[in-house]
Amino acid sequence: MDYLEIYNKIKEKLEITTDSIGATFPYTTTNGRYEDFAFNDDIYWWTNGFYPGILWNLYQDTKNEKYKKIAEECEKKLDDALFGFFDIHHDVGFMWLLSAVADYKLTGSIEAKRRGLIAANYLMGRFNVNGNYIRAWNGDAVGVVIIDSMMNIPLLSWASKETGDPRFDALARRHADTINKYYFDEEGASAHICVFDAESGKFIKKVAGQGYSDTSAWSRGQSWAVYGFTLAYLNLGDEKYLERAKKSAKFFMSKIDESKIPDSDFRAPKEPVKKDASAGAVTACGLLELAKIVPENEKAWYIESADKLLCGLVENSDFSQDEQSILQNCSLQYHGENQLHCSLIYGDYFLIEALQKRLGLDVKSFWK
Ligand code: GLY
Repeated sequence: MDYLEIYNKIKEKLEITTDSIGATFPYTTTNGRYEDFAFNDDIYWWTNGFYPGILWNLYQDTKNEKYKKIAEECEKKLDDALFGFFDIHHDVGFMWLLSAVADYKLTGSIEAKRRGLIAANYLMGRFNVNGNYIRAWNGDAVGVVIIDSMMNIPLLSWASKETGDPRFDALARRHADTINKYYFDEEGASAHICVFDAESGKFIKKVAGQGYSDTSAWSRGQSWAVYGFTLAYLNLGDEKYLERAKKSAKFFMSKIDESKIPDSDFRAPKEPVKKDASAGAVTACGLLELAKIVPENEKAWYIESADKLLCGLVENSDFSQDEQSILQNCSLQYHGENQLHCSLIYGDYFLIEALQKRLGLDVKSFWK
């Protein structure tokens, strides 16, 4: 596959579509156009960092000031969430690593650094000392923890490096250890949700969440495990995180069929067919990072596996101007009528990140 040609097509598309999307918060498309999720729904929505993240990654490669300017505007708009506070949740990593921390890493902006550190402090404040976990969501979900959170703990590691204060990393480690202990079954599949007693800290049960059932294997959850534990290893340096990431990667790839697009849930009935390309994009990023750190004789498997997923992703991408999104065939969750086989902004984000990694472009990672 000519990855450079694909990447150039994406860049050409985004050169145009970013003008019409502007400083908004795209989430999913209706009639080919991304809707502004902040305006229509929720400035706190967990995906609101992905578009600034795309822009910062493009800026790194192209040096086009337009991308920087729009990303900075999005970052300022997110202050309504950062300082609104009440609906802040555990996904502050997705939101501010890809906006403020990205900005700080690329421009040295002190305002951006402040935003990143505030977000990291919020995340640290969600740590439950009884159960050694960072709680998900708000309201009465006091003992609820989700696998997706592995992607948020890099914000803590960034804050430890930035401040020289080891507390952030210490809590990140404890959280990762809790996930590693309770989420995975014998075959290597992760639960989406685990529930703990918030007072005693004791594990209670696994819950389906966005997957098919309590004991199934929601594919995007598996992808958060692959990339999340890879990043935990890179940020925290514990070999058991690397082992977990590798085991999750093997499990994920053992379930990929000839379509090269992951089923929405690897343990759901084969019919009706429900696919989720976004899980492939996240996993491709994890595999390409793993390829850099595994022993020489294991590298080929990680690169070939990433190539297989990338091939499926490219076959399911729209490079035209008729549709603002790039990656198609993503699904929000297994159950529910809406947002099946649609586009989701994080699908585009991780596709672009994976292509930049595969091409070996000189772009900084915001995750490590
Ligand atoms: N819960 C975040 C996701 O849909 O992956």
